[in-house]
Amino acid sequence: MRVLFYRVYQAIMRLVTGLVKWKDAEVIEGQNSILKIPALLVKVGYNKVLLVTDKGITALGLTAPLLSGLEKAGITCHVYDETIPNPTIDNIEEALKIYKKNGCQAIIAFGGGSPMDCAKGVGARVARPNMTIPQMRGLLKVMKKIPLLIAVPTTAGTGSETTIAAVISNPLTHEKYAVNDFHLVPKYAVLDPLITVGLPPHITATTGMDALTHAVEAYVGRSNTEETRQAARKAVKLIHDNLYTAYVDGGNLTARSNMLTAAFYAGIAFTKAYVGYVHAIAHTLGGYYRIPHGLANAVILPYVLDYYGETAHQPLAELADLIGISDESDSTAVRAGKFIAWIREMNASMNIPTKLGGFQAADLPGMIHNALKEANPLYPVPKILFADDLGGLYALIQ
Ligand SMILES: NC(=O)c1ccc[n+]([C@@H]2O[C@H](COP(=O)([O-])OP(=O)(O)OC[C@H]3O[C@@H](n4cnc5c(N)ncnc54)[C@H](O)[C@@H]3O)[C@@H](O)[C@H]2O)c1
Ligand SMILES: [Fe+2]
Repeated sequence: MRVLFYRVYQAIMRLVTGLVKWKDAEVIEGQNSILKIPALLVKVGYNKVLLVTDKGITALGLTAPLLSGLEKAGITCHVYDETIPNPTIDNIEEALKIYKKNGCQAIIAFGGGSPMDCAKGVGARVARPNMTIPQMRGLLKVMKKIPLLIAVPTTAGTGSETTIAAVISNPLTHEKYAVNDFHLVPKYAVLDPLITVGLPPHITATTGMDALTHAVEAYVGRSNTEETRQAARKAVKLIHDNLYTAYVDGGNLTARSNMLTAAFYAGIAFTKAYVGYVHAIAHTLGGYYRIPHGLANAVILPYVLDYYGETAHQPLAELADLIGISDESDSTAVRAGKFIAWIREMNASMNIPTKLGGFQAADLPGMIHNALKEANPLYPVPKILFADDLGGLYALIQ
């Protein structure tokens, strides 16, 4: 009965998503493309902007060329760089204060998913000053235009530069949840490979596997459209062809550029076709133990795909064909198995562990509850899972 209700809910969501046409972020790409940002602001007559980033990025000087370009264009830029990985409500409120105090007119999100989501949270709070972030949790609670948002991803992973989501953590309750609204899709996504060349190998690997997880979870889900299928396939192929190169040869601009494109397309795929239990579980590990999002996804992905069994064989077999690792004589199950094995090989080749240890037994019921709350009934997963299934999965990954 519950399964039937979930499937009906998902069918309705699929219909609604198909009816609402929202605009993807407009891509500005190529080496030094961040230097095109000042002109975008001048064009709309803005001269005060908030830039949201994190300490790691400012310490590396990655924002410096943009800041000097903004200054030359007569734009005052106020920087908030206290965002932490798995950004919090406090991060958003602190950045919002700077935005308001200085009468900012636009927001530049400069960083990985954490600063980008923090910036989206600021945008949501500007649009809805009387609503708190927890009140905007879930689907379509913002429903109002946010200030001009320009996203500059410095990792090739989350796709936040074109998704409807801002993923926020509440350290007090250990919850990590999404605010989802079409209005949170940035106006521009600036994909500049030069600012990703210094991304350390381990973060390159885990954020790249996050992008792969987006594409794969979207592709095996039931809410696929031709558009999301194509976007997911494009992302998987680019990740297959470029992630390992970016990992071993960080200065390879072609690989870096292709990974930014991959993460962007994976973002398009999952923001319209959803993710699945991999993300639901990963978010609980971020909420309880601050385990980095990409690392959690990379480890969990093969376990969940195995667990889906034959319900996911067909799409996984197609992905195996796409990256050229299947033989004509292979059955669908064998081809799917080869794709899951390839994910495990990718993880191993980039020193990503096979387990994430150290969960407290006392935390498990809360984590299972939160994961199910996130995934059911929203995610159109190939196989609907319940508490016992998730208990088994948590046991496998630790
Ligand atoms: N909104 C969405 O659609 C969406 C999708 C997936 C994940 N997320 C969220 O995004 C967050 C994770 O983002 P992330 O994986 O990009 O990591 P992150 O933004 O947390 O950054 C991780 C670390 O990498 C460093 N870093 C980033 N770019 C760098 C660069 N170019 N060079 C050197 N160091 C750099 C940062 O300083 C930080 O220490 C999580 O909170 C996750 O839940 C959001
Ligand atoms: Fe993700």
